[in-house]
Parts: sequence; C-alpha cells; structure tokens
Amino acid sequence: VAPLKVGIAGLGTVGAEVVRLIETQARVLAGRSGRGIRVVAVTARSKAKKRGVDLRGVEWAKDPLALATHPEVDCFVELMGGAGDPALAAVEAALNAGKSVVTANKALLAKHGIKLAKAAEKHGGALNFEAAVGAAIPVIKTLREGLAGTGVNRVYGILNGTCNYILTRMEQEGLSFAECLKDAQRLGYAEADPSFDVDGHDTAQKLAILASLAFGTKVAQSAVYVEGISSIAPEDLRAAADLGYRVKLLGVAVRTAKGIEQRVHPTMVPKSSSIAQVMGVTNAVTIDGEGIPPITLVGPGAGGAATASAVVADIADVARGIRANPFGRPISHLHDTTKAPMERH
Ligand code: NDP
Ligand code: HSE
Repeated sequence: VAPLKVGIAGLGTVGAEVVRLIETQARVLAGRSGRGIRVVAVTARSKAKKRGVDLRGVEWAKDPLALATHPEVDCFVELMGGAGDPALAAVEAALNAGKSVVTANKALLAKHGIKLAKAAEKHGGALNFEAAVGAAIPVIKTLREGLAGTGVNRVYGILNGTCNYILTRMEQEGLSFAECLKDAQRLGYAEADPSFDVDGHDTAQKLAILASLAFGTKVAQSAVYVEGISSIAPEDLRAAADLGYRVKLLGVAVRTAKGIEQRVHPTMVPKSSSIAQVMGVTNAVTIDGEGIPPITLVGPGAGGAATASAVVADIADVARGIRANPFGRPISHLHDTTKAPMERH
C-alpha cells in the first residue's frame, strides 16, 4: 500500500514535534495504520530558522495555500494557528480539493468549524482536530465516538493549560501573574497572543467545540460567556485558600430548560474536590452522560509533545481510512445554538 503523503504548514512548538514523532514512531505508525506515513512537504514563515528536526528530502512549499493544494499531498496538517488566513484559506482549499485535514487550531474551528465541516462532507476528506481541545487527552473521540449513543447533560472542566499553570504557580510559589505567564510562554504552552489564554477566549473556543459534539449544536464561540484570569493576584488566591478553596478557570456547557448554556470564568472550587487537585499544565474534562456516572479525562493540556501526540493519532486515522463526521453528525442534523451568551445563574 502506498504511504500517506503529508504536508505540514507550521513548524513551531507543535509542528516540529509532529515531524519528529512521525519519524521516530514510523514503524509503530505503519503497523497501526497498515501503511507508511511520509512527510513530503512543509512550510512556515521562515525557511532559514533552525527547527531541530531533519527536513532533508522534504520539499519546502512557497506558502500554506500552495502546500494545501500540492498534488503530492494527501493529508494537509495545519499547525500555524489563527482564525483567519492563511490557515482558513489553506484548510478550505485542501478540503475543497478532496484532501483530508488535521489541525490543532481551535480558534479556526470555533469560528469557521461548520463551514469547514461542510466542505469536508461535500468533498469526502476527513477533518480531524483531536489536538484542538485538551492536547493529548482524547476528549473529541470520547464525545464523538465513545459516547455516540449517550445523551450528554453537561461537559465542563479545565481546558487551558496556560491558565492552570499560572494559577498553580501563583498559589504555590507566590509568584506574580506576569512571571508565571512568561514561563508558560517559554515552555510553549501559551498561544502566539497569550491574551487568548488569560482572557478566557481559548477556553471558550474549546468549550464551543465540546458543546457542539456533546449537544449536537452548531459550534458558536459567540454563544459563550467569557471572563478570564488576568485580574487575579496572589492575594486573591490566598484569600480563597483561607476559606478552603482554590481558584480554577472553568469552562462549563450545560443543557438547561432555556437551551445550552456555555460559560467560562474563574471559579472557587473546594480544595477537597477532584478538580482542585488538577495542577500545572494539566487539563481535566468531565462529561455527565444520561444514565451513567460522570466520566473525567485528565492529562497534559498543552505543550509540543502532548499536542503532537494527538495530531499524529489523527494523521494515523487518515492513513487507516477512518473518516468521522467532524462534529459527530451530518451538518444538516446540527441544531442552532444560542446566538448570544446566556446569562449566568
Ligand atoms: P507556534 O507559534 O510555535 O508555531 C506556529 C508556526 O506557524 C511557526 O512555525 C510559524 O512559522 C508558522 N506560521 C505562522 N504564521 C504563518 C504564515 N502566515 N505562513 C506560514 N507559516 C506561518 O505555535 P504552536 O506550535 O504553539 O501552535 C500551533 C497551533 O496549535 C495553533 O493553532 C495552536 O492554537 C495549536 N495548539 C497549540 C498547543 C501548544 O501547546 N502549543 C496545544 C494545542 C493546540 P515560523 O516558525 O517561521 O515563525
Ligand atoms: N494555549 C493553549 C493552552 C494550548 O495553554 O491550553 C493548548 O490548547
């Protein structure tokens, strides 16, 4: 069987790690997929930058669009980030050409997920995005496949590694918000614009994706109420601790009599609760399904290696010919969600 030929746009924290993993795990991946996986072309902003990975024999495409429509590429992997171009145009072009796409770009999916899923549906390619939520945690597959036959009443958790890392170090070491954020950036956890992390938008994007899968609604970031952590100081965390609480940035999507409520805000959780034990860059997602006790998935929520692990698993699915409906059901079966954030109660 011919190998799956992959093109990767974006060779930063995640992209470089994906190249490395495909190379180091080549035998395992070929065994699991029934065929080889080969990176045939890549692109990024700078061709000259050292990436610490072996790109000998790999073509450098002139830009993301050229890579997405490259005749040799079967599977286009978008790891540049951003809700607009070039990510949007490139992903759309790849899908319209009938190619499969793998991306970790929650900003893109939260804004254009439905349009992109329609293109995938129309032209037959896969649109896989396990890494977009919870990095290495297989939460998309859990909601889309593992719980396909179970109604979901609520999905919630810690969805941003940067914020949880900052809150943890501020509480445990008394460091300032700014110092902790700088470390999160150095470690490759934060977004290119870290205000997406600390102002809660990254959590909102991930929550909108999870809510779509959980409730069969059209993904809509605009329906999420958002509050971030940037105004929290070490004193606030100490005051909460004195009362027996920890502060966590939670994303919560819940079925109510009025519709699906989606919200992101700092929350005081009792120190004895399991969610309070989730520290550092770790994420945790709890799914309350009908008729079954809650399921909680916990694991590394950001960083190159953790994210690349999910990206490569998605590529392996493409190699194996697995093609799921991106948001769990055909687009025509998805309901509209609320257009504006619902009031908190
Ligand atoms: P980085 O900023 O480290 O890397 C981005 C890469 O994209 C760089 O190689 C950059 O090129 C390239 N790039 C950016 N703009 C362009 C452009 N206009 N044309 C061509 N190439 C471009 O980001 P990450 O690797 O951290 O993140 C990538 C994606 O993965 C994002 O969508 C992010 O949200 C998502 N993600 C990240 C996680 C993480 O922990 N880091 C976790 C989960 C998801 P150059 O290197 O030359 O500047
Ligand atoms: N910036 C994101 C985070 C990356 O810190 O959670 C993982 O999606």
